[in-house]
Amino acid sequence: MSICYLNGKFLDLKEAKISPLDRGFLFGDAIYEVIASYNNKPFKIEDHLDRLFINLKDIKISINYSRQEVKNILESVIEKNDLSNQIIYLQISRGHEDIRDHIPGPSPSPTIFVCSFPLKNIPNAQMTAIKASLKKDFRWRKSNIKSTSLLANVMYKIQASEENFFEIILQENGYITEGAVSNVFCVKNNEVKTPSLENNILPGITRSVIIDIVNKIGIKITESKISVEDFMNSDEIWITNTTKGILLVSEIDEVQVSNSDNVYSKVLKKFIEETLV
Ligand code: PDD
Repeated sequence: MSICYLNGKFLDLKEAKISPLDRGFLFGDAIYEVIASYNNKPFKIEDHLDRLFINLKDIKISINYSRQEVKNILESVIEKNDLSNQIIYLQISRGHEDIRDHIPGPSPSPTIFVCSFPLKNIPNAQMTAIKASLKKDFRWRKSNIKSTSLLANVMYKIQASEENFFEIILQENGYITEGAVSNVFCVKNNEVKTPSLENNILPGITRSVIIDIVNKIGIKITESKISVEDFMNSDEIWITNTTKGILLVSEIDEVQVSNSDNVYSKVLKKFIEETLV
């Protein structure tokens, strides 16, 4: 049995029901967070809460829960699900109304949903390198918001699965943005680069953990624009996200990349240590 939280109640996921008039369902009028819990401890929960509350403010949803109350709900869901490593999914939509109208009513009551899935791949030293494909970024202009309107991302992932790629890496006007469900990094001559937050990307929590680790191990890192040409000529390419951690990219559209894993292996080692704490 998987226990979830929905609007004030903890219940079996199979029993959880919301209205088809929920604005999350009708408009994708909702935001979400995906949080890893290693050994029953949520990883970087404060950073996820920071991003959640920034996003709520960005899309003008106000909830009747304090930050501490949201944190307590997340911790309770972790505790109620008997798995040492979990992925916690949190979604807040603007709520449901009696009629479909783009303009929200004066006081919709947000739908708050939290559930748990098993975290299958915990970071380890034997992570296999993945194959990716480079595509044009056709998403909206506010990818900094962790919106549930993920149709573009879903289309990329369907294509990736049909073409046997693990991830799609996106470029806009010749510059790398991010992956369909990840942030990206590259290494050239022992220096790390990642697209800066001005490039219409999600401020990934794993991205900031990795930036800190690279700084801590004394390797130069810059957040900037990265041309497709420089990216394809890198010594190493990595992708990062909460569910997969940090993965080396071995091929992009069947062209071999990452001839080295020199910096990657140092960063991965530290990342594993941090997730075990
Ligand atoms: N997505 N960029 C995009 C477009 C993403 O969807 C994600 C993660 C990231 C990485 O963010 P973080 O390190 O905070 O997980 C970057 C999650 C895992 C998802 O949609 O399931």
